Amino acid sequence: MYRLVFTQVLRRFDAEAVHRLTVSGLAVLARLPLLKRLLHRAFAPHDPVLRVTAFGVHFPGPFGLAAGFDKDAACAEAVAALGFGHVEVGTVTAHAQPGNPRPRLFRLVGERAVINRMGFNNDGARAAARRLRRTRGVPVVVGVNIGKTKVVPEAEAVADYVAAARELAPLADYLVVNVSSPNTPGLRNLQAVELLRPLLTAVKEVADATPRRTPLLVKIAPDLADEDVDAVAELAVELGLDGIIATNTTIRHGGETGGLSGRPLKRRSLEVLRRLRAKVGDRLTLVSVGGVEDVDDVWERLLAGATLVQGYTGWIYGGPLWASRIHRQLARRVRRHGLSSVTEAIGRTA
Ligand SMILES: Cc1cc2nc3c(=O)[nH]c(=O)nc-3n(C[C@H](O)[C@H](O)[C@H](O)COP(=O)(O)O)c2cc1C
Repeated sequence: MYRLVFTQVLRRFDAEAVHRLTVSGLAVLARLPLLKRLLHRAFAPHDPVLRVTAFGVHFPGPFGLAAGFDKDAACAEAVAALGFGHVEVGTVTAHAQPGNPRPRLFRLVGERAVINRMGFNNDGARAAARRLRRTRGVPVVVGVNIGKTKVVPEAEAVADYVAAARELAPLADYLVVNVSSPNTPGLRNLQAVELLRPLLTAVKEVADATPRRTPLLVKIAPDLADEDVDAVAELAVELGLDGIIATNTTIRHGGETGGLSGRPLKRRSLEVLRRLRAKVGDRLTLVSVGGVEDVDDVWERLLAGATLVQGYTGWIYGGPLWASRIHRQLARRVRRHGLSSVTEAIGRTA
């Protein structure tokens, strides 16, 4: 049914227009308590075998929505009601900014992929904080992903991230330092250990100072050389970070300028996960993202050592109840393997 709607209707419209409409619709839904609760009851993961605890936070299921969909924390509860076990909002920057000129989002339907060069369009940290302070009608785990404001020079990046972290760390179930988006000039340079160390140290100080001590993760690019993946992993362990999210979009493709996500990213994303797991074992929580399309992909990531798995592009092609379906199938698979919890699967093939 969704495939028909997608091929006959949605793909005829500009991708960003469809995205904006979807977010607006979900933001309305997020303000309708009764409907939201009904959907949550029907589609959110409730099966106890799916429960996962990572860095002290309880997740109803391991599969969440990756950053970039709900950039302004407008609709996290509605997203959770459709079946995601957590929602990573952002990337939020300290200051509001418009992002790159349009068009900046392109579907590659045949490849089940997307290219985007959005450039962190968002309303800024204060606006996101205001939305996150609203009481929640349904339970939802919300991660907050922060990045650098475009006009801020690299030399002032640390202060800019710290400003965003001060606003948002107290409101986040976990905080993510994003140094891996390809659409903010110079951002990915911050993945170099000499720049990353002072940045993560400063943000961690802010995260540690919140009443609940907000867990801190770093999100990396798939285009890092293997030795650089290792170096970031070592640094994360040394600094006492809670985890690594791997990976962001790739710039290794021949299409439009921007980051590629979806099916073509699958292989490298899995490779980076395996490398990280080999390097850090279970000393860090690994969150795997990139090219996840179905329950087989989620299962493979869990076995390879991911505690949490995220997806975004797969939702565009999989339809509104994509995550709910994956969680339902995952619960069945856990039982079929004679396990009493999905957590028993984590790292089994690592
Ligand atoms: C349209 C779009 C916007 C994105 N924006 C962000 C972002 O703001 N911050 C971020 O960390 N990742 C962003 N991402 C990357 C995703 O979070 C994810 O890492 C990547 O798309 C790979 O997962 P996927 O193949 O399941 O889409 C974006 C992805 C897409 C498709």
